[in-house]
Amino acid sequence: MDKFVIRGGKKLLGEIEISGAKNASLALMPASLLATGTSILENTPELNDVYTMMKLLNHLGVESTFQNHQLKLNTEKIISKEAPYEHVKKMRASVYVLGPLLTKFGFAKVSLPGGCAWGPRPINLHIEGFKKMGAQIDLNEGYIIAKAKRLSGAKITFDVSSVGATGNIIMAAVLAKGMTVINNAAMEPEISNLIEFLIGMGAKIHGITTSKLEIEGVDELKPTKIRTIPDRIEAGTILIAAAITKGKVTLKNMPNRYIESVLAKLEDSGCKILVSNDILQIDGVNNGINSSNVTTAIYPGFPTDMQAQWTAYMSVAEGVSTVTDTIYLDRFKHVPELVRLGADIIVNENSAVIRGVKKLTGAKVMSTDLRASASLVLAGLAAEGITEVLRVYHLDRGYQRIEEKLRKLGADIERVEGKEY
Ligand code: EPU
Repeated sequence: MDKFVIRGGKKLLGEIEISGAKNASLALMPASLLATGTSILENTPELNDVYTMMKLLNHLGVESTFQNHQLKLNTEKIISKEAPYEHVKKMRASVYVLGPLLTKFGFAKVSLPGGCAWGPRPINLHIEGFKKMGAQIDLNEGYIIAKAKRLSGAKITFDVSSVGATGNIIMAAVLAKGMTVINNAAMEPEISNLIEFLIGMGAKIHGITTSKLEIEGVDELKPTKIRTIPDRIEAGTILIAAAITKGKVTLKNMPNRYIESVLAKLEDSGCKILVSNDILQIDGVNNGINSSNVTTAIYPGFPTDMQAQWTAYMSVAEGVSTVTDTIYLDRFKHVPELVRLGADIIVNENSAVIRGVKKLTGAKVMSTDLRASASLVLAGLAAEGITEVLRVYHLDRGYQRIEEKLRKLGADIERVEGKEY
């Protein structure tokens, strides 16, 4: 379990390239199961979650090669339709194999994901959707056992917009018999990336980027190639790293349309944002950072995956701000750790009330989950003195060597390898 040692107070300056999106890769990889042969995923990030998904696919019989961010997945020799607990417990996105296995092979056995570091994350919408499509679903000894001769198209209206349920049902519907209509579908860019991939395979999907999807099932799909979109959450995290250190950073390959809600809030806080072609530049505030309230929402709203990072940023802003999470009501594990660094934050139900402080002071803090860890790194970059962020394996799940990227921008951050952190 490595740790980061950060000597805060350095302005971040320079240019950086953003890696491929974790949450796109985690949908694209299992989607490769839908076509027999070798699909190629370009711009795949080197992340622990990607390796976890790769191991799960390998367990099913998929052969993988991964070089220079190009991931080749050969699905010719599938030997198992079961996602065991050992894989799923490490990463909830493993549940994405359910739709492809069920629709392609008529059977899937997938461990129920169980709890999460920050509250309940049910998968009832996935299960109800498959049932509507004619699947027989049993829950037995912690596993979902799903069977269907061939799934049938259905009209599915989600009560809540869910990225995972949308992705899983799309993947099931592309090979089902007849038309599936999904109302209140998630519109996140990672879902559009998945749809693009499936269309490339020969799927018939209408409504990409909208909340109503119409999917006409086909008998067979062919393997294809897709480029993974850049990671908007990594981009947002780096932008806040620039803002919190009052630096100036250029992102070379980040389409601003994916993170408009974050850019608007950064401008509100006083940063200057410059957009031209695919280049995105942030120039941090010279004097005081304005406080700016945030409420998370489904895309294109402010992402819940940026909530912890924004909380860290607002902890050194002027005045009082609130950060409310409407997607995950309990996602505030970073707060007590930010308080250890000198932040003044009180959590009230699903809102954090943040009273900006003049300065944060370095301390040892503990990562509890991916985005919480990112917020601690951001706070450490701004804090006076030395911050040690323990258990950075959480960060390695979703950020590709973030310390190297931050160092390239002038941060004083190093990874210390060890067992005891
Ligand atoms: N929900 C249900 N029932 C379901 C599914 C979801 O009630 O069957 C609720 C959830 O409890 C939540 C809301 O719907 O309140 C949205 O959850 P969603 O299903 O969209 O989340 P997810 O698919 O499990 C993905 C990302 C998360 C990100 C959320 C929200 C992947 C692999 N994960 O999770 O990413 O927070 O969407 O945008 O795409 C992260 O990267 O740090 C991360 C946690």
